[in-house]
Amino acid sequence: MTPELMEKGKQRLEKYQASQPQPGLTESGGREAGFSRLAVPGEVDVTHGRILYLEDVSVSFDGFKAINKLSLDISPGELRCIIGPNGAGKTTMMDIITGKTRPDEGKVFFGSTIDLLRYKESEIAQMGIGRKFQKPTVFEQLSVFENLELALKTNKAVSASMFHQLDSAQSDRLLEVLHTIHLSDSLNRQAGDLSHGQKQWLEIGMLLMQDPKLLLLDEPVAGMTDEETERTAELFLSLKGKHSLMVVEHDMSFIDTISDIVTVLCDGAVLAQGSLAQVQADERVIEVYLGR
Ligand SMILES: Nc1ncnc2c1ncn2[C@@H]1O[C@H](COP(=O)(O)OP(=O)(O)OP(=O)(O)O)[C@@H](O)[C@H]1O
Ligand SMILES: [Mg+2]
Repeated sequence: MTPELMEKGKQRLEKYQASQPQPGLTESGGREAGFSRLAVPGEVDVTHGRILYLEDVSVSFDGFKAINKLSLDISPGELRCIIGPNGAGKTTMMDIITGKTRPDEGKVFFGSTIDLLRYKESEIAQMGIGRKFQKPTVFEQLSVFENLELALKTNKAVSASMFHQLDSAQSDRLLEVLHTIHLSDSLNRQAGDLSHGQKQWLEIGMLLMQDPKLLLLDEPVAGMTDEETERTAELFLSLKGKHSLMVVEHDMSFIDTISDIVTVLCDGAVLAQGSLAQVQADERVIEVYLGR
């Protein structure tokens, strides 16, 4: 990517964001807000003990049921691990939660009151659901600092006038995130010069700048060195409690380090759930996944 393209991309991003509706409004302009309201603006109602709730969700692609009556819920502050064979529907589930794919049927709630199926992908992101795809997508030409700074700008709560200068709370936040993602010493390095693992951390940092309530991470340690994987495990454990996390991974030793509850997906539904030891001992899980 050239600097010109990068600048154009930034401008387009800003223009796009300025044209987006405020979170909390439905596409119908708020008429149906009574059914899908934000109880307190910017807050998610977790009084029923769940930050995410899926019930009987199904989606078909050309007649093939990628997700098949999937039901799942996640508690606030939980770090949930999702495992399962290739094609089980793990990524598709994240597509549904983030509004990228619409299910044919079922319920998807953020907290107890926010019906995510009523919102667009951009609105869901602004509500506090951050997503990390497998491939790192940082701005390679920009420094670590600039990448984090730019991520803050994508948070619509920050007014446009702050584009060129961070206030002290934002600077503090940026430094805190830099520390969390182990990149304090690389503040001025160009993102393109970072290792694969560091780019992944930077992208996680960019998500953290927006203070997400729920983070969805799809195969975050794929391609990382053992040392990077270990540091990522520490990072996720440090995020637990402050954020809710859903982590999809195939790396079992990584799962072993970070997991409390592991959900095994197969054929678009939950096959088993429990501690890693419990699901690893489950004959059905061994047959479809671990025993391969
Ligand atoms: N947009 C789409 N159109 C058609 N088929 C799709 C689409 N998205 C997913 N699928 C199919 O749905 C099934 C589930 O795919 P998905 O990518 O969710 O699996 P996964 O569990 O993430 O697998 P992996 O571990 O390989 O990443 C696969 O058979 C896939 O080919
Ligand atoms: Mg996948």
